[in-house]
Amino acid sequence: MTVDNASVKEDEMKNSSLHKFFISALKDIYYAENAILEALEKMQDAATTDELKDAFEDHHLQTQKHIKRLEKVFGLIDEKPEKKECEAIKGIIKEGEEVIKSTEEGSMTRDAALIIAAQKVEHYEIATYGGLAQLAITMGHDKAAELLERTLQEEEDTDEELTEIAENFINFDAEKEG
Ligand SMILES: [Fe+2]
Ligand SMILES: [Fe+2]
Repeated sequence: MTVDNASVKEDEMKNSSLHKFFISALKDIYYAENAILEALEKMQDAATTDELKDAFEDHHLQTQKHIKRLEKVFGLIDEKPEKKECEAIKGIIKEGEEVIKSTEEGSMTRDAALIIAAQKVEHYEIATYGGLAQLAITMGHDKAAELLERTLQEEEDTDEELTEIAENFINFDAEKEG
């Protein structure tokens, strides 16, 4: 038999439901990261304190890296980076925009609310990257798993940093605003 076993296996893998789901979820988070990039700019502009503005600016830079990493992950599994509209992240981002509309400019209440909105974004990303990294490991895409885990770690760190900013700088003053 001269059939190339490796390529037969690869074809089987590409037809598997799990592989298809993996690609579809990658397209979803690729769309989400691009939408988040835009949202972070608006949130940075709208924030009251320098601490929060800086945190949003730092995460904007990280988000650019997340997009590049996803493009690498697509490449590693022979797929082209493609976006699939994601209703969940659109809803979470819309909530952030509503926070900006419904809070007073320059208030600490705005920052307290923006932090919660931003953490909802991070939690969506953490759930997605956590799941995708595990799937990548299961399917033997070790290099892809490593990239997804690196982004997962940055999302978790950002989430923690936002909690710290809320506790150290913002929530107490927001409470005093009445
Ligand atoms: Fe991200
Ligand atoms: Fe993030």
